[in-house]
Amino acid sequence: MNSNYLNKSTVEDIRQKFNMLVESYSDLESGQKTAVDSVLIASIIAGVVSNLHPHAKDLLDIGCGAGNYSIRIATAMNSLNITLVDLSEKMLERAEERLHKVITGKIIAIREDIRNLRFNEGSFDMVVAGTSLHHLRTDEEWHAVFSNIYRSLKPGGSFWVSDLITHDNSRVHEVLWKKYGNYLGQNLGKEIENWVYEQMEVEDTPKSVGFQLDLMKTVGFSNTEILHKNMIFAAFGGIK
Ligand SMILES: C[S@@+](CC[C@H](N)C(=O)[O-])C[C@H]1O[C@@H](n2cnc3c(N)ncnc32)[C@H](O)[C@@H]1O
Repeated sequence: MNSNYLNKSTVEDIRQKFNMLVESYSDLESGQKTAVDSVLIASIIAGVVSNLHPHAKDLLDIGCGAGNYSIRIATAMNSLNITLVDLSEKMLERAEERLHKVITGKIIAIREDIRNLRFNEGSFDMVVAGTSLHHLRTDEEWHAVFSNIYRSLKPGGSFWVSDLITHDNSRVHEVLWKKYGNYLGQNLGKEIENWVYEQMEVEDTPKSVGFQLDLMKTVGFSNTEILHKNMIFAAFGGIK
């Protein structure tokens, strides 16, 4: 692993942290409060997948947390089977419990690092990853995960990311990074602003929208789309 990543949180650190944060990821109406436009983005993604795949049967939710993305998508569509993947067993328990109330389809919960999973070819109509992939570290890991997702999709299936991002130009990033700090301070207070910045420093290794869209094309996606961007958060995806 590149030395830049050596000081970052381990998989076990991330598992333990998210085990403690289940409550703050369990409210559909407020979404993830520290992620800009999280409710809007989840509703856009739910609208897009239900319009693209009205007869979809199988959804994969990577880094599902307490299930907010799956719940939004499941309630916008008819019966679905949902595969949930997360490092945190507490998040998975909550996601399963909440989803059982809204779907009759099968729920498979997998407590695993997404980097260690290999799905069968053509398993899913749609894959979503809500603010989870910024925990990937090396370019090789990003490539392997995106390739695995591409392979796991049925023909015509789609992959949607909502995430913390960086920018390819550091001066551009600097401005939007500061704007996000102001947004946190104004909406959630100075203490949360400082906590989020500390967490990002210790834990996160985001990539730019450009990097991820190029990678989608490299692994085979035939077309890519940007759904939303505000400061250092964006939503985008690819169609197989
Ligand atoms: C910020 S939360 C977002 C939860 C949910 N997607 C949402 O938007 O409400 C990120 C989740 O990703 C999970 N996660 C982080 N790295 C992961 C990895 N390598 N494999 C699987 N899950 C991961 C964490 O445990 C956490 O529950």
